[in-house]
Amino acid sequence: MSVIGARPQFVKAAAVSRALSGRVDETVVHTGQHYDPELSAVFFEELALDEPDYHLDVGSDTHAAQTAAVMVEIERLVDAEEPDAVLVYGDTNSTLAGALAATKREPTLVHVEAGLRSGDRSMPEEVNRICTDHCADVHYAPSETAVETLEREGITDGVVRSGDVMYDTLLQVRDRLADDDVADALVPAGETASDGHHADRLVPGDDAFVLATVHRAANTDDPDRLESIVEGLSALSRPVVLPAHPRTVAALRREGLWERALDGIDLVEPVGYLDFLRLLVAADRVATDSGGVQKEAFYLDTPCVTLRETTEWVETVETGWNRLVGADADRIVEAVESAVRPARKPDLYGSGTAASRIATDVERRLG
Ligand code: UD1
Ligand code: UDP
Repeated sequence: MSVIGARPQFVKAAAVSRALSGRVDETVVHTGQHYDPELSAVFFEELALDEPDYHLDVGSDTHAAQTAAVMVEIERLVDAEEPDAVLVYGDTNSTLAGALAATKREPTLVHVEAGLRSGDRSMPEEVNRICTDHCADVHYAPSETAVETLEREGITDGVVRSGDVMYDTLLQVRDRLADDDVADALVPAGETASDGHHADRLVPGDDAFVLATVHRAANTDDPDRLESIVEGLSALSRPVVLPAHPRTVAALRREGLWERALDGIDLVEPVGYLDFLRLLVAADRVATDSGGVQKEAFYLDTPCVTLRETTEWVETVETGWNRLVGADADRIVEAVESAVRPARKPDLYGSGTAASRIATDVERRLG
């Protein structure tokens, strides 16, 4: 039984579910943590994911309420379906809920993307990662660092260095990235008519531009940080295209920053996975607080500036492909303007075979 619910988990499941197919029977549970079509349905269409077997429709809520709602339903499903294993991905509330519900029942708990730590426990994702790893029976770690981290925390049983399943998915779609003109897919974010925000300003043809994403609570829910990010991105010499997560749109409006953001940034609706990767290939640089985007930038040779003080993808920083600048406007400008592609690009997260390793290992463990 695989538990998914948020945008990056659909991307990860696209690789793993495909690899599991024909080896084990998989029941997929969509928690409903993400429900807007552009955060959910679009990934199922583009990545040809089967319709989930169960839809929990939990929606948005506080951390405790959302996590609890998923837990109650997963426990019920585990009791009804009696799966041999429950598989969870990454670090969202859906991950934690699946882990907590499953670990107190019979099934083997499997964590894909185990052993990652940013070292920042103020992030809900860090708490989710730590708790999930300490509940899990089987840990698929994307890197050697992740394996070592688990070892430092006393977790040595059931640890497999698998590589990164997001790389597998990216390789699966790479040939489709040239198919389309991404500019057609960009829709201005929010209510555009009254904002005077026009699609013809968007995506600058062949010109250099910066792609940006912002959605971390630490950035969206702290008005000073959000303002500083808007200031930094607006001050860049290149146009900035920012597919905006709904929580970011809401925060900009709440804090009275919407007009100011529109002045300096091309805010667009979230785009599908293929279009996002197309933008990432076309962009000169990317500025982001996303976990997945830091890796995808590395895979697609786009220098990355991360709008956080810490990262769980530490290797991207160590190899010079990523710089951590937090939310400081001056640092954002300096880092984005001066970003270059390092000469070397070592294999950090495997070679795109993580999902098949995981599937082989899962099949073996389940007998
Ligand atoms: C969640 C994950 C984060 C992950 C991100 C991927 C947690 C704690 N956070 O953050 O780790 O990086 O998903 O994108 O699990 N909303 C909508 N439509 C939707 C979904 C959400 O409008 O389909 C709005 C709601 O106002 C909601 C807010 O976005 O309150 C935040 O959604 P939530 O799922 O709680 O967290 P994310 O910021 O999406
Ligand atoms: N992504 C997307 N459209 C967007 C922004 C991101 O398809 O407008 C994809 C991106 O390519 C990556 C995943 O969503 O595969 C990352 O999700 P997100 O940044 O929301 O979460 P995180 O990785 O930080 O948990």
